[in-house]
Amino acid sequence: MTDIVVKTVEELKDAPDEYREAVSKLVISHAINELYGAQVFDEPAIAYAPTAYAKWLTCRVAMEEYGHHVRFKELGEQLGIPEEQLVPGEKRPLSIFSFPLKSWEEFCVIKLLADMAEILQVEDLLHCAFHPLRDLARMTMPEERFHAKFGRDFCTELCKTAEGRARVQDAIDRYYPMLPAFFGADKSRNNDAYRRLGIKQRSNEEMRADYIAKAQALVEELGLRLPSFDMPAARASSG
Ligand SMILES: [Fe+2]
Ligand SMILES: [Fe+2]
Repeated sequence: MTDIVVKTVEELKDAPDEYREAVSKLVISHAINELYGAQVFDEPAIAYAPTAYAKWLTCRVAMEEYGHHVRFKELGEQLGIPEEQLVPGEKRPLSIFSFPLKSWEEFCVIKLLADMAEILQVEDLLHCAFHPLRDLARMTMPEERFHAKFGRDFCTELCKTAEGRARVQDAIDRYYPMLPAFFGADKSRNNDAYRRLGIKQRSNEEMRADYIAKAQALVEELGLRLPSFDMPAARASSG
């Protein structure tokens, strides 16, 4: 591993092209996915939240997810990335963003399971050799933990009734199969470069396996199960 520690955006100008490209790809992917998530799930969920208390917490989650996009986009702009590359555009999104939210249970399951995936991604950047990205990850982490806890708490609440449990299980069955793809392709050349440069720590395969084990434990804690499905060949992504 050739960790090139880059402490500031200014210092990045002297880093090798490969390093700057790797940092840019990662910032773009986070900026886009955070905005997709906020638009497709978090903001619409406010209307589905069943009580004033749930609406208040959902507003906080939506505010924070938009905030994550804003932070990554700001960093991208400092890196000189054109604005249109930092927002959803022509590129096909991850499949999970193509299924608009239809219920409160779906949102609680997304926070339970998709935000666990977000936590692993952000956690991997906590020791990033490009310090502006590391600092952004450190700032974002407590909020992602709150989102996952939100999902867990509301799913636990919903699972107290047989009907609620069935609806949560149904949402898990439909959304979970799309989540392992969040970690990018196996044997990804982008990921090889990220690790070689000290920008990321773990391989896509390792993160995916960790994610599946953690998702399984979470779901079992609720007395539910993960659906069995054939893992689709993971699409190449910048992750
Ligand atoms: Fe986020
Ligand atoms: Fe989140």
